Amino acid sequence: MADALLEPLFTPLTLGALTLRNRFVMPAMQIGFTENCGPSERTIAYLRARAEGGAGLIFSESCAPDHPSGYWQAAFCVLNDETRGRWARLADAVKGAGAAFAIQLWHPGGQRRPIAGFPHADAPTLSPSGLIQKGREGGRAMTRAEMDDLAAAFIRAAEQARAIGADGVELHCAHGYLMDQFLWAETNVRADGYGGASVADRARYPLAVAAAIRQAIGPDALVSLRFSQFKEVDYGARVFETPEELAEFGVLARDAGLSMLNVSSRRFGKPEWPARDPALGIAGWTRRLAGLPVMTTGSIGLSRDMFADLFDGQDPALAIAADLTELVRRFAAGEFDMVGIGRMHIANPDFVTKLREGRFDALRLYNKAVDLRHLMEQIVPGAVEEGRKTAEV
Ligand SMILES: Cc1cc2nc3c(=O)[nH]c(=O)nc-3n(C[C@H](O)[C@H](O)[C@H](O)COP(=O)(O)O)c2cc1C
Repeated sequence: MADALLEPLFTPLTLGALTLRNRFVMPAMQIGFTENCGPSERTIAYLRARAEGGAGLIFSESCAPDHPSGYWQAAFCVLNDETRGRWARLADAVKGAGAAFAIQLWHPGGQRRPIAGFPHADAPTLSPSGLIQKGREGGRAMTRAEMDDLAAAFIRAAEQARAIGADGVELHCAHGYLMDQFLWAETNVRADGYGGASVADRARYPLAVAAAIRQAIGPDALVSLRFSQFKEVDYGARVFETPEELAEFGVLARDAGLSMLNVSSRRFGKPEWPARDPALGIAGWTRRLAGLPVMTTGSIGLSRDMFADLFDGQDPALAIAADLTELVRRFAAGEFDMVGIGRMHIANPDFVTKLREGRFDALRLYNKAVDLRHLMEQIVPGAVEEGRKTAEV
């Protein structure tokens, strides 16, 4: 019996051929159990526990397609012939416990810092325009042939994801990595129809890849696209300056055949364009303008956002914000269809079950030092860009 307040979030959701048992999603998050570029037995046990704990849909941690420029360091997965058997066992474990499962396809773009001795360390680092932020270099601008080559690698990865039993894939176009470097005007100054001032031009490559993935893996597969306004290198960044720009993107995203848009924000309840609507968050705007099913993420159940928490470490103590009234109110108002629970899923494998049973007192507080110990040991120091320490935005 669900806690009465939260009951609406325990209704099923149909996304094309896929039915989720509830609205709770575990978004993509590295945990530090990666071995030889793929999931390990620990990864499998870890995600199986989150599926047993009640999540409706689980996204794998970010995973690069098998392309030389996608290999970075030991913490990050790749979907290749060597790892696919382990991916198959992971899909089987998650789906066997009742959750849907999709692999998040990601590419570091100009954020990559090749690490000596790691596979393909000699391969060039590629980005849309050689930038990871205005005035900050990262990689070199891709040629059109390289874009085609990488698109083919994404498509192969999506086909492999389906072949190993995943329900689909998510194209990671958020947080300042390759696809987001295309979307963001600061990092995409290409003049070949794939960049510049127009949203349609900047979205052309990510959406062409998404559409090709849909074409390759068929109408029944889940194809999600994750985007964010903010970047790890700039919390105040915006891909879409106005609702009109977001609307333009929304139409193109629908045309690309996406099943859903996964809208990543630092705080799910923050109004996006307060002068236009005093309350509506970016997820709500997206659902209104794109007309696709939308997932929201960002500090649900927690007092402090993940990016301040992960990179800055300067905020007052993290606390559980057990009051989910605001979440339910926005859900009832039609701002989003699914809710992404990040760090609280790391800390509580059975987060969803605890909510369903109203056992808020049993929730364990996420603690970076404890929960991310393995990840921190795996990440090469200095090889991941720090968030820009701007004033809170
Ligand atoms: C350790 C860690 C790893 C993450 N890795 C990814 C990732 O691989 N891909 C991604 O899109 N987001 C990643 N994120 C962001 C989360 O998916 C999520 O958006 C973020 O934690 C905010 O949700 P929360 O406030 O509920 O934690 C990561 C977050 C954490 C804490």
